[in-house]
Amino acid sequence: MRRHFHLLMFSAATWAAIAGSARAQQVMDSARLQAFREQQQRLYQASVQDRQLMLAQLGIDSLRPGYDPNPGSKYPPNTDESKANPYTHLPDPLICHDGERVTTPAQWWQKRRPEIVAAFDTCIYGRVPPHAPTVTWRVVEEKQDTQWQIPVITRQVIGYVDSSLDTAIHVHIQLTLTLPAHITRPVPVMMEFGFVFPPGFRLPAFMRDSSTPWQKLVLEQGWGYAILNPTSVQEDNGAGLTRGIIGLCNRGQPRKPYDWGALRAWAWGASRALDYLETLPEVNAHEVGIEGVSRYGKAALVTMAYDQRFAIALIGSSGKGGATLYRRDFGEGMGNLASAAEYHWFCGNFLKYDGPLTANDLPVDAHELIALCAPRPVFISEGSPEVEGNWVDDRGQFMAEVAAGPVYRLLGKKDLGTTKMPPMGTVLISGDLAFRQHFGGHTDGPNWPYFIAFAKKYFH
Ligand code: GCU
Repeated sequence: MRRHFHLLMFSAATWAAIAGSARAQQVMDSARLQAFREQQQRLYQASVQDRQLMLAQLGIDSLRPGYDPNPGSKYPPNTDESKANPYTHLPDPLICHDGERVTTPAQWWQKRRPEIVAAFDTCIYGRVPPHAPTVTWRVVEEKQDTQWQIPVITRQVIGYVDSSLDTAIHVHIQLTLTLPAHITRPVPVMMEFGFVFPPGFRLPAFMRDSSTPWQKLVLEQGWGYAILNPTSVQEDNGAGLTRGIIGLCNRGQPRKPYDWGALRAWAWGASRALDYLETLPEVNAHEVGIEGVSRYGKAALVTMAYDQRFAIALIGSSGKGGATLYRRDFGEGMGNLASAAEYHWFCGNFLKYDGPLTANDLPVDAHELIALCAPRPVFISEGSPEVEGNWVDDRGQFMAEVAAGPVYRLLGKKDLGTTKMPPMGTVLISGDLAFRQHFGGHTDGPNWPYFIAFAKKYFH
């Protein structure tokens, strides 16, 4: 129960359901909890309605329900590896829709890669509108500081999104940038999709992490770090789809089935933040990496896949919708992704694959999202099932990374170096695809030192 509580805790639906529990009382003080609970319930109800509108547009009456991981559940997720692969076939990243086999990098770049991008746009993450507005970045605060004995300069920067499409919708993207104070040449920067927790919220034990803070590790290398607040780009609920950058592009109207979901919108926000970094002489914009955990691990992978300017990625426990194969049935299911708590991460069309269609009908799978990152280095991180639980499907992420290998090899790079899932704690960083399963929970903290070692092969 404990494990599942943590894994599901950030979804609006689950918050609404559990917020009255004694456990929740321990993590937030009660007055704030009450207000937060009511707000989450309102957002959840509005999300249910928005999802219903989308189902009506798609002509779908009902979807298969998500798994319920709680004890005594009538519809528990599968955690039996022998039943985890109901579909035997993964789409081949190197075979074009017309059957042509890709044997040269030119074929990949000109034909196959655009096909895969189009499939992710159409069926999973949605399309960025061609008229997406411009963003003007302004430093609103700059402070000299010392972090872990290292002199730094921290800037609060806001990306003001042009709101002429709908002057009632304001999108102000929040970015914090911390750079070493003494810079002799442009430095690499690691950008993170940062969680913003509700007031009074204390991180539950399962996500707590006593590892050295990643920001310290990064600064010790002489690199900088940036933290993007994803919810300042797009709210993390379906109710917010008529607001934020998605709502602004739709002039406050509900989405159409091809329109982007929150993951694509968050990735767009990271790309705009990289535009800003490109203007700074202190930053080496060719050495900017992206990182995130859980839903933001999904967002980090989407960012890396779509924006080829990002040099490297650390993808933490991203699970389904991120690095885990949709065709696997282990832990989180399609029904969870399509539920009112999560459907907003995707485009409307994605719902079809939990209704009339199945994951097996998707023209692409997660290994091809990793393949879109090629030839750039990607590190997939996950925790121990004992601590993290089975929801993220640790093996499914590894399998996807293995299946992305042929594309890396085609482009003259090295794959993971093995197809066999290694024992926990094994570091696979000798190729351009990297992997480590740490002994902790739903965090990538324990893997940061290994990621830094990996990144040092690329950052100078
Ligand atoms: C839920 C959700 C996952 C997601 C996670 C998180 O558990 O089902 O897909 O990764 O929340 O972001 O916290």
